[in-house]
Amino acid sequence: IPPERRISVIGTGYLGATHAVCMAALGFETLGMDVDTEKVTALSAGRLPFYEPGLEALLREQLASGRLRFTTSYEEVAGFAEVHFSCVGTPQRADGPGAELAYVDAVVEGIGPHLRRPCLLVGKSTVPVGTAERLASRLAELAPVGRDAEVAWNPEFLREGFAVRDTLRPDRLVLGVASDRAERLLREVYAPLLDPRDGSEPVPLVVADLATAELVKVAANSFLATKISFINAMAEVCEVAGADVARLAEALSYDPRIGGRFLRSGVGFGGGCLPKDIRAFMARAEELGVGPAVRFLREVDEVNLRRRTAVADLARELVGGAFRGRRIAVLGAAFKPDSDDIRDSPALAVADRVQREGAEVTVYDPKATDNARKAFPALAFADSVGKAAYRADAVLHLTEWAEFRDIDPGELSGTVARQRIVDGRNALDAARWRAAGWTFRALGRP
Ligand code: UDX
Repeated sequence: IPPERRISVIGTGYLGATHAVCMAALGFETLGMDVDTEKVTALSAGRLPFYEPGLEALLREQLASGRLRFTTSYEEVAGFAEVHFSCVGTPQRADGPGAELAYVDAVVEGIGPHLRRPCLLVGKSTVPVGTAERLASRLAELAPVGRDAEVAWNPEFLREGFAVRDTLRPDRLVLGVASDRAERLLREVYAPLLDPRDGSEPVPLVVADLATAELVKVAANSFLATKISFINAMAEVCEVAGADVARLAEALSYDPRIGGRFLRSGVGFGGGCLPKDIRAFMARAEELGVGPAVRFLREVDEVNLRRRTAVADLARELVGGAFRGRRIAVLGAAFKPDSDDIRDSPALAVADRVQREGAEVTVYDPKATDNARKAFPALAFADSVGKAAYRADAVLHLTEWAEFRDIDPGELSGTVARQRIVDGRNALDAARWRAAGWTFRALGRP
């Protein structure tokens, strides 16, 4: 197999595993690499270490095709392909708001000394602007092939729950390149998307410099976070004005310049990307001396965190002013539906807070219970809505799984101690719950 039909993917977490499987699905001989032996063993056996709809089936299919395998060796990766994707994480630093770049740096240190022929290391992680340039210099120092080991940046916009679709049919491709050769190599890799044979529309392509490509990702996530916090700020105003934020959002959404997506008000955003990305962006802008340009993101973060307090306040009021001795059912633990990811989950932040204030909290989530139990050992977990809600004084709906929309309020009435529900996601049918005798409250709505 010629090296141009081969691809390596370094880091097999959420992003890397998805990318490796999808590259194999596009027809490339793909070698996934991770320093974590357990991940490599699991993936090689066709097991995904996380939940993502459709991905495990595709992983098994690609393993069976013989196009996909996994390794723990940098040396093997370096010899395998001409294009290497780096998909390691950039979490928030333990000691501050900036991005932790240790894993990104480790990839360059790990693969660099083995690069003996011209190749391209393509970063996909979300990084502070300027990182790619720095990595390029370091890679050229380490690689026996010198400057012929190049760096490019190709940010990833995939959403959890839609990872396969977002990778195989993205809204756009952004290629940050420092040479014509890098652009040519990446155009070849993405040819199936840029020049589809099945009659579908080609994916829009933006070719830019390294710094622009790095910024696209943080700018996109900052915009999305701002949009959510905007409607949540409107919810705060609605609450004191007696207005209805859901109607307000609907009215705004018909203006095509605004649009309705990411305009759902509720307990706010969480997850492994939006919260840490806006904080890292603010930190990087300060370093670059342009802090004021993105200082509004501090407000975006604060509005978002205030929504967690607001749900707890609403629930406390509903159970008579104090949580002590009350039983509270929390529906949802994942930061959003169709995911088992609990990173910075608003649902768990609220559950934890209510429990600390003295309530007996039982959480139910269709997929995220194992992860949530490890992170919040003081919370109780149930394996169904009914068990979580058993004799509850109030039910808090905090992650909008489809399963929760389908709950029959009449049926649940017999389980709870008091028929009270807070919809923290503005996703339930208020009229239906009220008709079944429930006291139904939601953020930003009368
Ligand atoms: C996000 C970006 O969407 C994606 O492009 C990027 O690559 C990674 O970060 P993800 O973290 O998977 O993806 O979740 P997303 O669907 O964007 O939701 C983020 C959070 O916003 C969730 O907690 C969700 O519940 C919340 N949200 C979303 C709202 O509160 N209201 C909305 O209208 C939309």
